Amino acid sequence: MDMINLKIDGNDILVAKGTTILEAARQFNIDIPTLCFLKEINEVGSCRMCVVEVEGSKKLQPSCVTKVSEGMVIRTNSRQVRDTRKVILELLLSNHNRECLSCERNLSCELQKLSKEMGIETPDFPRMEAAEQKVQLSPSIVRDQSKCILCGRCISVCEKIQNVGVISFANRSYETTVTTPFNHDLTELDCINCGQCIKFCPVGALKEKDDTDAVWDALENPDLHVVVQTAPAVRVALGEEFGLPVGTNVEGKMVTALKRLGFDKVFDTNFTADLTILEEGTELLNRVKNGGKLPLITSCSPGWIKFCEHNYHDFLDNLSSCKSPQQMFGAVAKSYYAQKAGVDPEKIFVVSIMPCTAKKYEAKREEMQVDDLRDVDAVLTTRELAKMIKQSRMDFVNLNDGKYDSILGDSTGAAVIFGTTGGVMEAALRTVADVLTGEDLKNIEYTPVRGLEGIKEASVNINGMDVKVAVAHGTGNAAKLLDRIRSGESNYHFIEVMACPGGCINGGGQPIIMDKNKTDEVKMKRAQGLYQIDKDSKFRKSHENPEVKRVYEEYFIEPNSHKAHHLLHTKYVER
Ligand code: SF4
Ligand code: SF4
Ligand code: SF4
Ligand code: FES
Repeated sequence: MDMINLKIDGNDILVAKGTTILEAARQFNIDIPTLCFLKEINEVGSCRMCVVEVEGSKKLQPSCVTKVSEGMVIRTNSRQVRDTRKVILELLLSNHNRECLSCERNLSCELQKLSKEMGIETPDFPRMEAAEQKVQLSPSIVRDQSKCILCGRCISVCEKIQNVGVISFANRSYETTVTTPFNHDLTELDCINCGQCIKFCPVGALKEKDDTDAVWDALENPDLHVVVQTAPAVRVALGEEFGLPVGTNVEGKMVTALKRLGFDKVFDTNFTADLTILEEGTELLNRVKNGGKLPLITSCSPGWIKFCEHNYHDFLDNLSSCKSPQQMFGAVAKSYYAQKAGVDPEKIFVVSIMPCTAKKYEAKREEMQVDDLRDVDAVLTTRELAKMIKQSRMDFVNLNDGKYDSILGDSTGAAVIFGTTGGVMEAALRTVADVLTGEDLKNIEYTPVRGLEGIKEASVNINGMDVKVAVAHGTGNAAKLLDRIRSGESNYHFIEVMACPGGCINGGGQPIIMDKNKTDEVKMKRAQGLYQIDKDSKFRKSHENPEVKRVYEEYFIEPNSHKAHHLLHTKYVER
């Protein structure tokens, strides 16, 4: 490898050719502030926050896009550098709606953090008339143009990671904005509501639609029986909002907090994740036996479903007809549970706590209702639940561990790993392998489908049959995988797709990761949290879930039965 000698802040440094000044400095623990930069995603050099002095160059250079060269002498911390960065920041703040106290991103905002670090108390520049444009762009996303710093990260993430590309810059100079074609609402476009743009926005210009008021109202309504379900990935991320280490399992504290908030019953989406495996596994086995459409593709991720509906119409028949676990839960709560508990289904209000912004959209889809009753009435993200807990002044970290209520609260290790990429596939393989062999197999960890590689493939021999599977996360990767199938290059029996990179552990509704360089590390720690819960679980296969067995005995009779189809399955449409 060709190496380059250079000097940064008086230190002699040797780095590989092609390295940027920013990377070279970071390799030697010299921190340079950035705003627009996202490695390999948004390397546009537009904000100038990362400028440094390069000897022999008249102008300061943006370190994030300037490559090192032999003998370079760089100063990252001179007065000129510090003053210039401060002016850049003050100019940004002069055109910014500085309502930090009430801002969604107070304490998780990169602009606020930099201002504090650079000692800006009152910007020297007078405040310009900031655009006041709080617009609800979809059931999932709200934009506040008055806080946008035009870094372009959302545009790049939407286009390069998610392969969607529904937002872009419009106009020029002072009029520049980030918007959609013809300023249309995202609902009218191909936006999949994944919320990845929110996660990468450095400031409070993008956020989820806040549904906490609707939930407070329901909790205060004595006529309603309010039940809540919590998705697998929430339990290993919620703790971050209260200062706990990334990946800490706070399931018990979360259950206690929800009971204290006043929910009549606290249930687990893991219950319907197990139910999904029984329904989807049966669908797979039927398709294999009867020559049905293959590969079967999972339908748990509403962002992925919408992506498929817009872009891959020829794969709609490959999608499993199963509703997502969130929607299955609502349908079961308002039928089986209502009957068992003797509650009028019309009085049941179902709240979901999800790592996901796309679930807000999914709950509002026309087909997500049974006999005129919506499956799910309100969806909150992990961040919104944290907000409600904070509003209620609970000492979350010191809460005792609570237990989920019966009869929709039991779950298995297979269900909890739904929260990370590869988890649905692994859970399905555990059940399908037992069914095909007629045995209680002990070797149940399918490691080839684990990890953060964008597309994972495996061939698993079950009872003499080679079951070929693939896993993709991030819709950009899903597109690549489907293109391979379209071209005949690859062939599978079963595919898992999650819209968000890493799966639900990194969903658009999860706690914001302030240091974007640590995104993969955070995903891994959250995933490890889920795998640990799986390892410690009494039951690790979905078909072993005692309450799931009971719901079939008492209500659905068998997977894919007529009643199961009526409540738990749906159809997807070309958009
Ligand atoms: S985006 Fe950041 S700087 Fe702007 S108001 Fe919100 S917290 Fe404050
Ligand atoms: S929600 Fe997802 S698809 Fe929609 S604009 Fe944001 S990144 Fe793009
Ligand atoms: S909305 Fe956020 S991510 Fe997008 S350009 Fe504005 S500040 Fe950057
Ligand atoms: S971070 Fe380098 S120009 Fe924006």
